[in-house]
Amino acid sequence: MTFRIAPSILSADFARLGEEVRAVAKAGADLIHFDVMDNHYVPNLTVGPLVCAALRPHVELPLDVHLMVKPVDGLVPAFAKAGASIISFHPEASEHVDRTIALIREHGCKPGLVLNPATPLSCLDHTLEGLDLVLIMSVNPGFGGQQFIASVLPKIAEARRRIDAARKDIWLEVDGGIKADNIAQAARAGADTFVAGSAIFGARDYGAVIRDMRSRLAVV
Ligand code: DX5
Ligand code: ZN
Repeated sequence: MTFRIAPSILSADFARLGEEVRAVAKAGADLIHFDVMDNHYVPNLTVGPLVCAALRPHVELPLDVHLMVKPVDGLVPAFAKAGASIISFHPEASEHVDRTIALIREHGCKPGLVLNPATPLSCLDHTLEGLDLVLIMSVNPGFGGQQFIASVLPKIAEARRRIDAARKDIWLEVDGGIKADNIAQAARAGADTFVAGSAIFGARDYGAVIRDMRSRLAVV
């Protein structure tokens, strides 16, 4: 199993974002997780396509854009143009989930669907085949630094079964409260891609945290 670590810039120093993404890239990150919040779908407000485009030249790593916005569709072309590789959205935030998935692909990006802790896996019933990524939230979206909700572990395991049954290369990402001491649990449940905001950007040595995470993943 290939494991990927995706530092979330939500916990980075926003006054020095370019430097921060270069630092995590150097520290061994596989993706840059870019959290977009609109003060409507979620209570917090972060950054948009302008900042995504400004960051793009700083790293070669894929930009993993997590849209916590409603509506979704209007922002898809803007983020594609801003250099997003993956664009994930919440089914509750789109009137026509299938249309949004197609729109993301038409714009040359990989579509991902995000399931909140209370969103049932049944929303993958008619969508999974069209996705490149399933993102299981292990906190309620809106803020960094929240506690990992362990009851999502069986949900990750069931999502893994569905992905394996689909026989397609669909990444299974987990987001929220991931630290070195619980990353192996999430991996054992079946996740292969791990978002970590405060655990990485809240530390002094980003490389040390990422190495610690990888060493725990190595024995899963
Ligand atoms: C939460 C965001 C997460 C957040 C994770 O709504 O989607 O990506 O940055 O932060 P930590 O790792 O601190 O829980
Ligand atoms: Zn996120």
